[in-house]
Amino acid sequence: MAFSRTAAAAAAAGTLIVVIAASSIANRPPAPGSAAGADALPSPMLHGQVSLEEALAARRSVREFAPAALTDAEIGQLLWAAQGVTSADGRRTAPSAGGTYPLELLAVTASGVHRYLPKTHSLRVVRSGDVRAELAEVALEQRFVADAPLVVVVAAVPSRTAARYGARAERYVALEAGHATQNLLLQAVALGLVAVPVGAFDDAAVAWVTGLDAGEQALYLVPIGRAR
Ligand SMILES: Cc1cc2nc3c(=O)[nH]c(=O)nc-3n(C[C@H](O)[C@H](O)[C@H](O)COP(=O)(O)O)c2cc1C
Repeated sequence: MAFSRTAAAAAAAGTLIVVIAASSIANRPPAPGSAAGADALPSPMLHGQVSLEEALAARRSVREFAPAALTDAEIGQLLWAAQGVTSADGRRTAPSAGGTYPLELLAVTASGVHRYLPKTHSLRVVRSGDVRAELAEVALEQRFVADAPLVVVVAAVPSRTAARYGARAERYVALEAGHATQNLLLQAVALGLVAVPVGAFDDAAVAWVTGLDAGEQALYLVPIGRAR
């Protein structure tokens, strides 16, 4: 599937029809505790092998990845670190202005694009098929994006925060993306993985490639994997 500006314009206008092919994962009955049509992720662990200080000292942007896929447990742990629910009232690992929670996370793997559902700690298939090469193309040809076994798209629905904070929301949403992404980067280190935050990309094209909904905006791409 090649990206075209015509398609991006159609997506921006809300006219693109995304065909979601049924995958074996999507066809499975929902696991206990997961939302309908979503796959539950392994519960996150609360004890690791690396201290916070060690993770802070070791974090570096790395752009060379071994091709091995990440496990469901690793993917679940990474997404939980960024946006996991950590209290009964729905609060999360990262702070949110007024608890408006504008962030949405997508996990892009060789099998497709999946949306993280924090409330059920599960993944719902957005689209099947490997779009990482297209993601690299629309990220200003940064080829390493295609090599990473996982690319987390940190996206936002700014209107959730703007409904309460008006024009201030633009700042708040960007700050929140920074909080969540730093959690993600430190969790990667703590799992023995490597990552790099990528901010250079064509917004509309990323939205089209990853099947973002109208009103959603991609803020960061975070390729993650094992060091090569
Ligand atoms: C807002 C932001 C955008 C970035 N965008 C990119 C990018 O598009 N491509 C890339 O390779 N690195 C990107 N980086 C990573 C920086 O190049 C990197 O953090 C910097 O060189 C410092 O190195 P370190 O992360 O290893 O400490 C970005 C970092 C930030 C904070």
